Amino acid sequence: MPTFYKRPGLNIETYDLRANPGDVDFFVQQALGSGGPVLELACGTGRISWAIAAAGVHITGLDRSPEMLRVAESKRQAAGAAASERAQFISRDMTAFDLGQRFPLVICPFRSFQMLLTVEEERDCLGAVYRHLEGGGRFIVPLFDPLLEYLVPGGVAARTSMRIGEPVRHPVTGNDVVVDAMERENDPLTQTFVERWRFREMGAGGRVLREEWENLPMRWIYRYEMRYLLELSGFDVEAEYSDYEGAPPAYGREQIWVAHRRG
Ligand SMILES: C[S@@+](CC[C@H](N)C(=O)[O-])C[C@H]1O[C@@H](n2cnc3c(N)ncnc32)[C@H](O)[C@@H]1O
Repeated sequence: MPTFYKRPGLNIETYDLRANPGDVDFFVQQALGSGGPVLELACGTGRISWAIAAAGVHITGLDRSPEMLRVAESKRQAAGAAASERAQFISRDMTAFDLGQRFPLVICPFRSFQMLLTVEEERDCLGAVYRHLEGGGRFIVPLFDPLLEYLVPGGVAARTSMRIGEPVRHPVTGNDVVVDAMERENDPLTQTFVERWRFREMGAGGRVLREEWENLPMRWIYRYEMRYLLELSGFDVEAEYSDYEGAPPAYGREQIWVAHRRG
């Protein structure tokens, strides 16, 4: 049973220190350009939502994890009264929500769309986005572009453990926290994988003070699959970038899709 982002622990406690894909300015500029209000799907700890609110744009952040939303809410006081008034967080599943409101911009940052594990869930989510966009409104959704050698059953990614980023200092204890993807199971039939992540809080002399494991399931999506999926769901693709500076599509980098609601 996948638990990623669903229970308290080292994963959520250190999320903001580890999550650094260099996308905040990009989304803030998009939010300012739209005039707002903005809807962020799978907003997590509010890493991006609060930056958008601080820039002067109203934002609704939606997530299904009460633990992640709790972290987002914990930042309200530090955000100040004006930004606080512009940000709201709600508990919803991004495959089934009806907010009774339309937005000029909906975003789904940091590959969260790939936590939807079936095409049905993806289409349900895109349908909900469509219904929440104003005519011509934009949807921006970054994915990773799959590196084929990582997708082979029993291949190198399945056998080799991989350090996830640099160690970070736990915000409360000050101890180092190290994260490793220890094993990975690929299923090319469903285009899904599950990675087993190990979180360890380290004490003096390399002693392990806390160890927690979480399963990260994701679905990989090929470029033309995503383009057709967007088109079939009522969107026209405006642009596809491989990084947040606007580089053209490139194998194995990001797939940053900028689409708008047709009609
Ligand atoms: C990688 S985090 C991204 C958080 C935030 N957008 C950011 O950029 O830092 C993924 C988030 O997706 C959320 N999530 C996954 N599946 C979801 C779903 N079906 N509906 C709503 N949220 C979901 C998780 O709870 C988690 O907070």
